[in-house]
Amino acid sequence: MIPQEVIRCKRDGGELGLEQVRDFIEGVVSGSWTRAQTGSMLMAMFQRGMNLEETRLLLDEMLHSGELLDMEGIPGHKADKHSTGGVGDKVSLVLAPLAAACGLRVPMLSGRGLGHTGGTLDKLESIPGFNVFLESKRIHRQVAEVGCVIAGQTRAIAPADRILYALRDETATVEHASLIAASILSKKLAEGIDSLLLDVKFGRGAFLQEFENAEHLARLMVDLGRAAGCRVAAWLTCMDQPLGRAIGNAVEVEECIAILKDDGPEEITDFICQLVAGMVELSGQADSLESALEQVRGKLADGSALEKFRQMVTAQGGDAAVLDKPSLLPRSRQVHEVLYEEASPAHVIDVDARAIAEIVLQTGAGRRNAEDAIDPAGGISGLACPGDLLEPGQVMARIHHDDKSRVADWEERLRNAVRLSDQKPVLENRIRMRIS
Ligand code: URA
Repeated sequence: MIPQEVIRCKRDGGELGLEQVRDFIEGVVSGSWTRAQTGSMLMAMFQRGMNLEETRLLLDEMLHSGELLDMEGIPGHKADKHSTGGVGDKVSLVLAPLAAACGLRVPMLSGRGLGHTGGTLDKLESIPGFNVFLESKRIHRQVAEVGCVIAGQTRAIAPADRILYALRDETATVEHASLIAASILSKKLAEGIDSLLLDVKFGRGAFLQEFENAEHLARLMVDLGRAAGCRVAAWLTCMDQPLGRAIGNAVEVEECIAILKDDGPEEITDFICQLVAGMVELSGQADSLESALEQVRGKLADGSALEKFRQMVTAQGGDAAVLDKPSLLPRSRQVHEVLYEEASPAHVIDVDARAIAEIVLQTGAGRRNAEDAIDPAGGISGLACPGDLLEPGQVMARIHHDDKSRVADWEERLRNAVRLSDQKPVLENRIRMRIS
């Protein structure tokens, strides 16, 4: 089959069959399809759309374009969570050890930050020595011995996605539900998991801002995951506000350590416990979300999750001393405190996640392009959150940076991002819908 025929079929609104999708993915991986042909095919898919069966075929071929992790020999339920990315989203660092402490096996393959969203791997790499480059054999061993691992996607896993994702970025074909769903699931299902909880975000700080688009993607991924034989549920969660009070890398690890010691900010701690409870319920180890939540809170309070995190950090070569002494994490040269300067107290009613992310990016903690280096010490900590009552002179945020010349601008933008009122706000739960 020549590529032009396959492209023409989709370009003219036809439905792709197995042979055509297989030819496309094989051609992408082997290089027999040129970049122009692959880019044209992506644009045809983007413009004409793909029905459920075509998307299922695409996912299946992308998934099998590389290696699958073999979790068969490991007893227990293998589970993971995937988030579509947010601001201050450090959930995975706490969730993986907490889920493992609850008896789940978590072979988590994660990604790096891009644009306004941070990356789990970048955060973990701020722990001195922590290694995210693990081969499949080592991932297998750690899941068997520790119960959880957080590593980067190896080059052998879903290679079709790596090539297609880069080309989608170049050809403005990223924002399409079928392409996003096949991309995400081709990597997650390669982990050999029994169940997957999807945290699909919407709102100002999310990749898909509109709730309806996020819901469409969530439902599609649930249908596709199930068709592939994996138990999948999706939660729609609001990303208008940052998650937690720290946004960056080392500053987020420090916040995670506090959460694991059951001494972190309440809202994010509760959010993570809810997600882990969702995983436990999905695995069949609890008959309701409430009983799962009780189990999860117990494992956080009794130090089991912290101990799992310690084991995971040690197994991956990291310096576990940071758990007892977070000052061993990378530190920026300067920390600028933004103070609340009014004469009377005020309630924080809103914090614009996108505006905060832009400041964090400029401190060097994020990357604009995939090849950019990051500064592990940059970012924001101690950020005021909706529901806080600020007293005169109280710290609204600490900006960690190495560039004095921009501080005044950052401070002004931070003040604009935090909305205040003399009225106490009614806080909404982040979790707006559960599709299971
Ligand atoms: N994240 C992915 O892994 N793939 C997409 O297509 C979009 C977000």
